[in-house]
Amino acid sequence: MSVVIKTQEEIEKMRVAGRLAAEVLDYIAPHVKPGVTTGKLNDLCHSYMVGVQGTVPAPLNYAPPGYKPFPKSICTSVNHQVCHGVPGERVLKQGDILNIDITVIKDGFHGDSSRMFYVGEPGIQARRLVEVTYECMWHGIRSVRPGAQLGDVGAAIQAHAERRGFSVVREFCGHGIGRKFHEEPQVLHYGKPATGLRLEPGMIFTIEPMINAGKAAIRELADGWTIVTKDHSLSAQWEHTVLVSDSGYEILTLSQGTPPAPQSP
Ligand code: MF3
Ligand code: CO
Ligand code: CO
Repeated sequence: MSVVIKTQEEIEKMRVAGRLAAEVLDYIAPHVKPGVTTGKLNDLCHSYMVGVQGTVPAPLNYAPPGYKPFPKSICTSVNHQVCHGVPGERVLKQGDILNIDITVIKDGFHGDSSRMFYVGEPGIQARRLVEVTYECMWHGIRSVRPGAQLGDVGAAIQAHAERRGFSVVREFCGHGIGRKFHEEPQVLHYGKPATGLRLEPGMIFTIEPMINAGKAAIRELADGWTIVTKDHSLSAQWEHTVLVSDSGYEILTLSQGTPPAPQSP
């Protein structure tokens, strides 16, 4: 197994899949309000993907080794849930923070992106965590260029999180993506500069840091999927799918509603 270098034709299909994943996030944004259930958000996204876009929701029945099939079409992770939250009966309330993670398959290729949403007005600490996590993702993205190494990406993310007093989740990482949902390489969100895989044009992977307001430790809930912080502190995550271009990087998961890059992260 090794890292796939995508051809121009494959890159073009990844651009389409990436934009479609981002457009699902645009579509669902106005529905994130107090009183809605995460299950309703799932159902709306599912219908949009299948009925409007003609995409396949990659999470539905996804079953990596050691996991039971994921039962829904999107991941919804609320407050102290870190990632892989399973949509259901939970009713969102004023002040919650929510990650929605969308992965679509179009024409055989995957696009994977997640954003944070505020349910009503966030508390000061929640807003700070969400903003710093966005900056962390951008620090990672801005270290992507041919000749850079994956350790540069992880170190940039970790340094920013820790200088703000937050911690980086270690057990989950970004990943190569293409015809498969999760390919090599693993993109750690921590590490040492000038270590790890050297980046080359045509590599495509996600950068998706999970940052906790408290300690880094996590545990898995009995549903076999939902990951939460052990200390019940808030957690945030943002995700883009990124191409290593000839001159640097190209973000593939952009749409009208993509938040602007941070000013000076
Ligand atoms: N979209 C997640 C990621 O960024 C993976 C979700 S796997 C699922 O890698 F089965 F929970 F959907
Ligand atoms: Co991903
Ligand atoms: Co994702």
